[in-house]
Amino acid sequence: MSMQRLAKRVEQIAPFQVMAVMARAKQLQAAGEDVIHLEVGEPDFSAPEAVNEAGKAAISAGKTGYTAATGLPKLRHAISEFYQQRYQVDVAPERVIVTPGASGALLLLSSLMAEVGSEVLMPDPCYPCNRHFLLQVGAKARMLECASVNNFEIDLDSLAAQWREQTTGLWLASPANPTGSVLSKDYVAKAWDIVKQQGGHLLVDEIYQGLVFEGEDFTALSISDDIFVVNSFSKYFAMTGWRLGWVVVPEWAIEGATKLAQNLFISASSVAQHAALRAFQPDVLAECEARRQTLAKRRVTLIKGLQSLGLPIASAPQGAFYVYVDVSSITSDAMQWCLDLLQKEFVALTPGADFGMKDAHKYVRFAYTCDCERIEQALERIKRFIQA
Ligand SMILES: Cc1ncc(COP(=O)(O)O)c(C=O)c1O
Repeated sequence: MSMQRLAKRVEQIAPFQVMAVMARAKQLQAAGEDVIHLEVGEPDFSAPEAVNEAGKAAISAGKTGYTAATGLPKLRHAISEFYQQRYQVDVAPERVIVTPGASGALLLLSSLMAEVGSEVLMPDPCYPCNRHFLLQVGAKARMLECASVNNFEIDLDSLAAQWREQTTGLWLASPANPTGSVLSKDYVAKAWDIVKQQGGHLLVDEIYQGLVFEGEDFTALSISDDIFVVNSFSKYFAMTGWRLGWVVVPEWAIEGATKLAQNLFISASSVAQHAALRAFQPDVLAECEARRQTLAKRRVTLIKGLQSLGLPIASAPQGAFYVYVDVSSITSDAMQWCLDLLQKEFVALTPGADFGMKDAHKYVRFAYTCDCERIEQALERIKRFIQA
């Protein structure tokens, strides 16, 4: 037995429950079963071909060294222009820090904004890694119970009362994972007013930006230059494995964020950054838009199917590529239900417990990552499973 020990904080990090589902799905697949994957947070698209080619060209040209810690100046400009063209918002390129995925951005922001012993408020349910990033820096997430009838949005009327001595900020996401809900601009503006009054910071995770099917596709940067906004090439640009994202910080935070970027990452992947420059060209943007249309069709297929099965959708699925579904009328344990469904009908879903505490056992997340035909097939199988 080794005398060495893992750091205590590791014990507080929950593994993803969906890993058990994915491990079983792999075994079943290896045994020749036809598994339908609706559990993973990435659609079945690869990065646009022109982006892949730009990546190859960067490698051939030897553009494989470190870049500036904050990212290639050209890429920071391209991101700034993107905000101007698509959202008519001025974002100085100096405020854009390119990171290894939104994950890198969230880790950086945890270091930048959360003191040891402090807490950050976020909705329950939300993206599970948020609370773990905060743990890394000796801070905590305090997840606020949210009601399904309110799309799992934090009640802003009681937000000020939730603020405590050790509270330093509020983290929101729109469109959100796992619920697919989209916040209104009014909601974010109101949240910012409250947070500002408390002297806190507001972070809005916009990683699913552009993937909006109902509601307004906006950026929180249109509300204030003092809001921190996280984004990524992973979702709209389908570049998950390239590991590239960014954060927009207020002027006064540039220096601090730069120091942290230098120390935490040295730089994001050079090849990925050169490839990403291609992502903002009109032909690639048109391809991403066509994919959004494809996702829109899948969304309708899935929603209609769930409705015909009588499975209540827990939150208006207006964006991203998720639908959060209430399965409490058929099970008291969504995790076990996911495992049983996989075992009997070979459909993989993510249990709600990965995203929240309150009533998480009631919910499962569907990701519409397969084509409509596969989604229909999955729904048929679920129907059979429920009726068995
Ligand atoms: C809400 C949210 N934020 C951040 C991430 C991290 O994404 P990435 O590091 O691939 O950019 C994800 C990934 O699924 C997510 O759903």
